[in-house]
Amino acid sequence: MDSEEMTQLLHEIILDYNQQGAIHSGLDYDEIKSFLGPFTSEDPGGVSAVENAIRAYLKTSVRTDHPAFLRAFWGGSEPASVVASLISDIRNTTMHSYAVAPSATIVETEMIKAISELAGFPGYGIFTTGGSNSNEMGFLCAREEALPGSSKTGIGNERLCAFSSAESHYSVDAAANMMGIGTDSLIRIPCVDGKMDPAALNDAIIEAKERGDCPFIVLSTAGTTVRGAFDDLDAISDIAQAHGIWHHVDAAWGGAVLFSKKYKFLLDGLERADSFSFDAHKMLGSSMVCSAFIVQDEAILPLTMAHTNQGDYLFDDPNRELSLGRISPQCGRRADALKLWLTWLDLGTKGLGERVESCLDVSNHLANLVKNHEDFTLVSHSFSNVCIRFTPQSGETQEEGDIRIRKARNILENSGKSMVLDSVLDGLLVIRFTASHPSVDKAAAEKFLSDLLDADA
Ligand SMILES: Cc1ncc(COP(=O)(O)O)c(C=O)c1O
Repeated sequence: MDSEEMTQLLHEIILDYNQQGAIHSGLDYDEIKSFLGPFTSEDPGGVSAVENAIRAYLKTSVRTDHPAFLRAFWGGSEPASVVASLISDIRNTTMHSYAVAPSATIVETEMIKAISELAGFPGYGIFTTGGSNSNEMGFLCAREEALPGSSKTGIGNERLCAFSSAESHYSVDAAANMMGIGTDSLIRIPCVDGKMDPAALNDAIIEAKERGDCPFIVLSTAGTTVRGAFDDLDAISDIAQAHGIWHHVDAAWGGAVLFSKKYKFLLDGLERADSFSFDAHKMLGSSMVCSAFIVQDEAILPLTMAHTNQGDYLFDDPNRELSLGRISPQCGRRADALKLWLTWLDLGTKGLGERVESCLDVSNHLANLVKNHEDFTLVSHSFSNVCIRFTPQSGETQEEGDIRIRKARNILENSGKSMVLDSVLDGLLVIRFTASHPSVDKAAAEKFLSDLLDADA
């Protein structure tokens, strides 16, 4: 395929981007597989083979920009982000060395500074493979702070333990697993209305110290995955500071409010934390992935990533200090920051803030409808997350209520009416609605509710 043929194909892809279609193909695994194949080819298939494959892919993949796509914290990408992804591919480089990625390094550095400025941080950090990886970076920096030199020596016989709320994301368990302390070393603190209980946290830290364990990180969540709750960041910073423990904030979901004058207060106290995770690929519309790990103390990153000294041959240009590979766990790394850069230029801080506010308007609207509808019970509403249950029929057990939820969710998804998650909250299975992309407007929320009711019929 030559570049002219590539241009032709790109044109076709853009036409598809601008079209509306069914949310999913309705095909099963084998049917999708036979549509997509062949997967390899002995002989060159040229542009026609590629074109067939692209058509099959577009036909069989989920349209996450659909107004009924409510399953995730993201949806269709902003046009500027799509273009940014493309230029990242066209100049195909890696972020490890300034020499091979001068402009991308500057863009990434400036994006880190810009996010930091919104958060009241000094402006250090690195783009990562996602919120999960950013949380893991928080764990690693906290370990290095608690046990200086442990990037080289390991943790020896120290019984490190971490704390996060009972409702924090499973990537926190992943971080404990990946850094070798095991998920049993993650102590999950009970919540009140989805927020970590600061008094219970304080007690748990004291108990851990009395047991001879070494508390090294408290991870609070700004926007929990199911309920959308924001932990009290000030109260948790008070406790972390009193005990000399690292405080990391998982703002992968709720961090988007940094752009909104109206909702920024939800992150009050963030500026006191030691580090935080921030995903631009969720409510802000950057395409997958566009995530940053931001830290107060510039010095901790090279210490935590001291193993990169072994890769010194990569950074040996005169601008070694500028090479971001020295502070990243990755060697090859895409220029993901370009997606936030171009989207920010396109929409402005104002436009990104409006994007967030209109998502929250839609969720508020849906929550009000649910609250005033006798067939539904509003189990919880916080941020963009609206958790819904059917009002119990007379004599209905909790288990029967759970079955109604699961059945309705499956009917919605199988029929292609909408894709939404169910999840357990306070022991109950609930439908979790979130508005996280602009196609989900008030009309889409109303249609979702009426489809949900029909699915229970
Ligand atoms: C609160 C929270 N933290 C972290 C993550 C993980 O983010 P990512 O999918 O970018 O790894 C999620 C994902 O939804 C999340 O809800």
